[in-house]
Order: sequence, then C-alpha cells, then structure tokens
Amino acid sequence: MTEQRQWGGRFSGDMDALTREYTAGADRTLFAHDIAGSVAHARMLGRQGIIPAEDADAIVTGLGEVLSDWLAGHVEWRPELEDVHTHVETLLRAKIGDAAGRLHTARSRNDQVALLNRMLVREACDDAIDALTRLVLVFCDLGGRHAGDAMPGYTHVQRAQPVTLGHHLLAYGEMFLRDRDRFRDCRRRTNVMPLGSGALAGSPYPLDRESVAVELGFEGVSRNSMDATADRDFIAEFLFCCSTTQMHLSRIAEEVVLWASAEFGFVGLPDGFATGSSMMPQKKNADVAELARGRTGRVFGELINVLVMQKGLPLAYNRDLQEDKAAVIAGRDACLPSVEIFAAMLPALEFRLPRMRAAAGESFSLATDVADYLVKKGVPFRDAHMVVGGIVRECEARGCGLHELSLEDYQRAHPFFGPDILGLDVESALAARDLPGGTAPNRVRAAATALRAALEE
Ligand code: ARG
Repeated sequence: MTEQRQWGGRFSGDMDALTREYTAGADRTLFAHDIAGSVAHARMLGRQGIIPAEDADAIVTGLGEVLSDWLAGHVEWRPELEDVHTHVETLLRAKIGDAAGRLHTARSRNDQVALLNRMLVREACDDAIDALTRLVLVFCDLGGRHAGDAMPGYTHVQRAQPVTLGHHLLAYGEMFLRDRDRFRDCRRRTNVMPLGSGALAGSPYPLDRESVAVELGFEGVSRNSMDATADRDFIAEFLFCCSTTQMHLSRIAEEVVLWASAEFGFVGLPDGFATGSSMMPQKKNADVAELARGRTGRVFGELINVLVMQKGLPLAYNRDLQEDKAAVIAGRDACLPSVEIFAAMLPALEFRLPRMRAAAGESFSLATDVADYLVKKGVPFRDAHMVVGGIVRECEARGCGLHELSLEDYQRAHPFFGPDILGLDVESALAARDLPGGTAPNRVRAAATALRAALEE
C-alpha cells in the first residue's frame, strides 16, 4: 500500500490523482465537529468496555491535541487523506500510535458524516434564529415608532389605500418571525443523533447511543439506521428555511430600491449602506438591497440542488450525498449575512415621512372609504362601488382630487352624502381600521408589542 488510505487493504493500485481531486468534499470546516463526535464516541466505547479504557483515554487526549493543532493553524491539509474523518484519524495516529486504530470501532464514515451534517445544520439554525430575532426586533422598534405615520399602501404597485409605515414594516416583522420559527422547527428535526447506524445496518457492539446523544447535545437517537445514513431531508428543510427568508428579504430589498428612487423618494439611503458610481458623481445606489435580492438565486439554487441530489437515490448511503455540505454552507453564507445587514441597515434608513404622508392621500386612495360611507348609510356595497367609480371618473375628467369636490358634487352622485363626507381624510381612514390586524395607529402600536411578545415565546 503506497498511500495512507483507511480502506486500502483490498486495493493494490493507487488512486488516480484526478479521482482524488474529483471526489474531494467540502468538509474541512467540520474539523472541530468531527473531533467532538469522535471524543464522545471514544469515551462511550471505553465506558462500555468495547475498547480498553486506557486506549479510550489516549484517544480522547490525542484528539484534544489534534484539535489544538488545528485551531493553531498547524495542520496541513493533505488531499491524499481524502476527507476530514481520515485526516483526524491519521493525525491522531501520529500522536498516539496504534491505539488510534480503535477509534473507528462500531463506526462508519456514513454515520460519522451524518452526525457532522446534523451538527452543522443545527449550528446554522442557531445562527439564523439569532439573526432573525435581531431583525424582527428592528421591525418591532420601527413599527412602534411609525405606527401613526401615513403612507400609500399598494397593490399591483398602484396606490391602493392609505396604511401606516409602521403597519407596512410590521408586515415584514411577521414574515421574519415565521422564518425564525421555521428554523426552530428545522433544528428540532435535525437534532437527532445518528451514530450507531454504522454504514447502514446498525452495529453489533453494545453501544450506549443515548449517552453519546446527551454528550453531544442531541434530543434523541435515530430510530432507523438506513434512514439516518441515507436521508438529508433536514438539509433540504434548512435550505427551504433559508429560501423563504431570502425571498422575504428580496421583497423588502425591492421596496428599499424603489423607495430610494427619485420617483418614490420615500427613503434616503444612509451613506454607510449605499454605494456610488465610478462615472456619475451624483449617484447613490442601494447595492446592499440589490445584492440581497440578487443572492436569492443562490439560495433557491442550493435548495433545488439538494432536492435533485437526493431524487431517485436508492437506500442507503450513496456518494452523491457528499454534495450536501457545500450546499448548506453556500445557502447559509448567502442568507445569514443578508439578514444581518438588513438588521443594521433598516434602522439607518431616513424615512421621508412628509412625502409619504402627501402621497398617501393622492390617486383617489380614499375612494374605498367614500364607498364605505355610503354603505354605512344603507347603500349596498356593489351600488356604492359603482357610484364612487363614477365620481372618480368625473374627477379625472376635471383633473381634480376627491378632496376638491364640493358637497353638491357628492350629492349629485348620490343623495345620501352629507356634510361629514368632507371630513374624510387620510387620518380618519386610518383610524377607522380599528380592528385586530388593522392599520389604525393604536392597532399598529399594539401589533408591535404583540410581535415583540411572540418573539419571546
Ligand atoms: N466524505 C463523505 C461525505 O461527505 C463521507 C464518507 C463516506 N464515504 C463513503 N465512501 N462511504 O458524504
């Protein structure tokens, strides 16, 4: 045997350099995870009398030294050693000699890598939960602060009805709270300990799987060794969580881009979160928002990647599954920094409240309220809708807004209009939506408080 391959016994020839390169995975960043799993496994083997206690102790001590070397940057990555599991074992052998050969008792790289994947996703979920919690808090703050500030609400990017800026922002707060909770669910399903599954069929040794699970912070142990080594649905789920988060970010990103345009003029971009043009001196661009929107493709791509990677795979482990770690890392590294930068950028946006307030009352945004006025006087909604449609048509012909109409104009359209119709304005329209989930300022304030409470659950 000319190479240090763990499985070299039945091989007489070397691995082709191309094969070595082609089969290399993205597991280097899981070095410390591999050691943590190996330490727990070795301790359990020693406790159960499966390997001599002195060997277990030597393995645990040696692994500690290997970890210190790694953290100090003293480990040179050797491609001929294949993957992180074989690296750790080879380095351990250099420290403690033949006792290292007992570490892999009752273990396969298939359950070992399943363990690492679950540790990786669990940590990524924790980071996502933290980042999203911070982001939702930003929306609670902004939502409460702007609970009474009017802006146009849109459907089809056409002005529709007035809302408050707080209400608009808290809509995102709700979305990101659900995103956070999805990561929590994902973490729960991920947090199952697969060691003891062996390559696929379980293990003939008297393992104490529960104690390994406890030591490594898992909620329980897997019930089926083939499932545990062959399935990566928790990775697809993690990437779906990233995908919905990134999708939501891309929506608010789009709004930041639009709102920062001269056409909207609803926000000023803070210098710290904007970029300029190399040619046009006046430019200030919302590149942060554009990149968050742009990276959506990467995140969705990784979700599709791991779904397709698993499609049609017969049980149990297949090497295709090695593609999973790069997908988790890529999805995580696109999504989490996007969450973090939005949590930093949003509070720094300069909301142009007078401009928003002015726009809120334009474009016949109170037409629905005029129809509702008639409904309150007993007119069926469909008829009221028709009447107000006629009023809008007439205003358009005259080039005026609803607020410029006289009582006589209104009464010509319908005799039920009284002088109080002239008191209808943005503020009264907002205040009227005084029900749970509505945009009345007091309700928006309450919604901000309720969102903060939901965050703490
Ligand atoms: N590096 C592999 C992975 O990430 C784990 C090793 C299992 N390899 C094997 N040939 N059974 O999935």
